[in-house]
Amino acid sequence: MKDMSVIKLAAISGSLRAASANTAVLRTLQDLMPAGVEMDLLPLDGLPLYNQDLDGTTPPTEVAAFKAAITAADGLVICTPEYNFGIPGVLKNALDWTSRPAFASPLKHKPALMMSCSPAFTGGARAHAQLRETLTGALSRVVVRPPVVIGGVHTKIQQGLLADEASLKFALEAIDDLVAEIHAQRHAAVYRQTRPAASLAAAVPQS
Ligand SMILES: Cc1cc2nc3c(=O)[nH]c(=O)nc-3n(C[C@H](O)[C@H](O)[C@H](O)COP(=O)(O)O)c2cc1C
Repeated sequence: MKDMSVIKLAAISGSLRAASANTAVLRTLQDLMPAGVEMDLLPLDGLPLYNQDLDGTTPPTEVAAFKAAITAADGLVICTPEYNFGIPGVLKNALDWTSRPAFASPLKHKPALMMSCSPAFTGGARAHAQLRETLTGALSRVVVRPPVVIGGVHTKIQQGLLADEASLKFALEAIDDLVAEIHAQRHAAVYRQTRPAASLAAAVPQS
């Protein structure tokens, strides 16, 4: 039985790089979670390239484990670099695996918070549109809020952690918004289970 008193977040970094700034941001936030909220980092390293031939009832072990972790999480925190104005292939690959079966995947109705960072002053902002489209395609509930974009990130990481107070404060406000969205989605799930079925009987002649 799931413990509803604890909110579990799954964090995904869009970078595999050992010294990734995006992973550093998530690692820093992990230690600053509000009371009753836990966050695990889900590495993308082991995921094979998407192949629909392998995406049946028994997908590759790493894929099954990744999808199970997403299913178990109440919400997602994705922090990604911008690669050529979009999201890195490794992130798109992970979301493609997780997005199946279509319209009934672990991403469906999953609250998701988007963040980006970059050494550029634009902070990876141009990756957000593509990430939002992909998550929306999988019916995730992307948190609608001012975007979390950390520019000049190479000057803000110290000893593998984000050491910029303003960025951290903004990111933690966004985590609060994600938690609020998770509560909203819990109410929505109860509504979906209990609402009366719509009837067309009055409008459509019955034979
Ligand atoms: C293939 C590639 C494409 C990139 N394209 C962009 C870009 O479009 N915009 C940007 O701000 N930075 C771009 N960068 C720089 C990344 O923002 C930078 O490498 C960043 O540190 C990567 O994130 P990480 O530290 O989490 O690995 C690119 C880097 C690579 C390797």
